[in-house]
Amino acid sequence: MQNFNFVNPTRIVFGKGNVPKIGAEAAKAGRKALLVYGGGSIKKNGVYAAVTAALKQNGVDFVEHPGVKPNPVLSHVREGIKKALADGCDLIVAAGGGSVIDESKAIAAGAKYSGDVWDFFCGKAGIKEALPLFTVLTLPATGSEMNSGCVVTNEEKAQKYSAHGAALFPRVSVLDPETTLTLPRAQVANGAVDALAHLIESYFTTADRDVAVTDEIVHALARSVIASTRRILKDPADYAARASMMWTATLALNGLASCGYGGTSFPNHAIEHSLSALYDIAHGAGLAVVMPAWFKWHLRKAGPERLEKFGAAVFGTKDAGAAIAAFESFFREAGAPVRLSEAGIPAADIPRVAENALGLMQMWGMSYTRAEVEEVLKLAA
Ligand code: NZQ
Ligand code: ZN
Repeated sequence: MQNFNFVNPTRIVFGKGNVPKIGAEAAKAGRKALLVYGGGSIKKNGVYAAVTAALKQNGVDFVEHPGVKPNPVLSHVREGIKKALADGCDLIVAAGGGSVIDESKAIAAGAKYSGDVWDFFCGKAGIKEALPLFTVLTLPATGSEMNSGCVVTNEEKAQKYSAHGAALFPRVSVLDPETTLTLPRAQVANGAVDALAHLIESYFTTADRDVAVTDEIVHALARSVIASTRRILKDPADYAARASMMWTATLALNGLASCGYGGTSFPNHAIEHSLSALYDIAHGAGLAVVMPAWFKWHLRKAGPERLEKFGAAVFGTKDAGAAIAAFESFFREAGAPVRLSEAGIPAADIPRVAENALGLMQMWGMSYTRAEVEEVLKLAA
């Protein structure tokens, strides 16, 4: 077990009926909020009405920044920064999924920085401060509601890169499982795949394979993702399953599930971000394509040990190949694509995808070669 620091300052307010609590929490940080949301799902499921009423009741004025795209884009982040500055916003309220929260984090940091916000994503500058951020999560998947990272696509450069900094941890995140009852089936699948991806990246890339407690946390959270998702797909109104999924996805990427590991990296994410940057596909869908292929590559390169351990604990399988098949079959069962062609990506594009992924891998300090990335992608063809 490697030495580590673990800190997570985000306060979670969890449970049904809690969305209005965002008002009093936001009022502790300021008087004028930038209210960030996406394409309108929050207007259909009552979250918008509840958040705006709560802000008004608590004396927090707000200006709206709607229209965040899934896979949020830099141009819209820049618009948000301008709006926050022009209207004198002293805090941000984000209501939606990971894209809305990520764009809000970028705006929060960009509003406190004199240069261009993309500097944080391409490694030119570090994030020192940010406007305080409050979130109402409506899609369990990314963990953004309780972590210090954000992902934005520079649409001119076709780069989907990330920025990180302690100032980006939300102050408070409200997690009301009832807000997820309106999720389309495809987003349920995407969220499940993403949460599993967060669990497996560090587990499979750690240089230290004797970290029993974290291995067991990963196993338990992975079992919970799979069991909750199966219940949700069978009965979308199953509150207990929605609640379990929501908290599990948060725990999968809030720092807990990698404590004590060493030398970890996020190769599946780097390759997926290239797919999203080039084809604008959903993050979870891209991961469902990449992960089975990467596991096959990992098995050749690193041997069966981790796959056997994970497979036995999570799927009740006996060997590494069966564990990979179990992942793939769960993704299919949830309705996610598991091959490039199923996601509409031609195999002829593999060199272009690999080239794009390598740029991010370099940013993230990974030493994959172009041939290795192409090998993984060929296994997804
Ligand atoms: O835009 P609206 O109308 O809100 O609709 C959204 C969107 O179309 C919809 N939706 C969200 N909650 C809903 C709902 N529809 C009905 N009912 C609800 N309750 O779902 C669609 C997808 O939303 P999005 O926010 O894009 O999904 P997700 O939460 O999966 O976020 C994906 C983004 O997060 C990044 C991904 O790369 C991607 O850009 N990630 C962020 C991470 C982080 N900050 O730590 C880590 C992840 O690995 C990931 O990279
Ligand atoms: Zn992810």
